[in-house]
Parts: sequence; C-alpha cells; structure tokens
Amino acid sequence: MASEKNLRDLFHNTLKDIYFAEKKILSALPKMAKAAQAEELKTAFEEHERQTEGHVERLEKVFGEIEEAPRGKTCEAILGIIEEGQEVMKEYKGKPALDAGLLAAAQAVEHYEISRYGTLKTWARELGLNDAADLLEETLAEEKETDATLSQIAESLVNEHAEAA
Ligand SMILES: [Fe+2]
Repeated sequence: MASEKNLRDLFHNTLKDIYFAEKKILSALPKMAKAAQAEELKTAFEEHERQTEGHVERLEKVFGEIEEAPRGKTCEAILGIIEEGQEVMKEYKGKPALDAGLLAAAQAVEHYEISRYGTLKTWARELGLNDAADLLEETLAEEKETDATLSQIAESLVNEHAEAA
C-alpha cells in the first residue's frame, strides 16, 4: 500500500528523527562532560547521559507500539546544534566563557527535544496510542527538568562571576 502521508506517517517519521537525535546526543554528552569546567555542570551532563540512555530505550518501546523497527533518520537540525557545541568546545578551550558556551549549546539541544517530544505525545494521543503517549510524556518531563537544572547552573555561574569581578 502506498503511503498515505497521514498523521501516523508523520508520527513515525518524527519518531525516527528524535531517535537519531537522541543517539547523537548520547555520543556528544561524554565529550561535553569532559570539557565542562564547573563540577556541577560536569555532573549535570553525566546525569543527563544516563537519562538519555533511558530515552533511547523508551523510544524503542514507542516503535514497538506502532509495530515498527527502531530506526533513525538523519536529523540535520540536531547535527547543526551539536556542531555548534563542538565549535564552542574548540574555540573556548581553557577560556573562562567555555562553560557558558557549553550551557547554551546544551539548552539548545534540550529545547529541540522538548519541542519534538511535545509534538509526538500530542500526536500519539490523537492516534489513540496512549501507552506511547505516556512514554513520551515521561521523557518530556525529564527533558524539561534538565533544562531547568541547566538554567539554574547558568544563573549560579553568572552570580559566581559577578562576585569574582
Ligand atoms: Fe533526551
């Protein structure tokens, strides 16, 4: 049967997009943790790496819910965001602004994921895939939490720098 290009197709496609993105993030996070100067930022990246492993597993379950094999599809958006992060790591290596740059890159990643998971869970509900929607919602909550943690760290770093100045 030819693809009808319906909401279910769109859901499957976007699932492949975020699956690809999560795997890229999983390989980028250890490098970011290694590069981070502030201990709290290092810890946040390490913690999120563990969470991201769970995100990949949940996505595999969601593929199962629609009886599809877990497969990624190149997502240029996440490649661009990760590339920017790598540039920051190179250009600001050993410089005081490195952590600020890493934080900005990581938050761009989180915002991309929050957008994707928000869309996917809404579509899952619309398609009557309630188990899938629940799984997507769990990950969405963790991405939002991570984003909030990163914001807190960014603020505390700004305060530390202000005090030091
Ligand atoms: Fe994630």
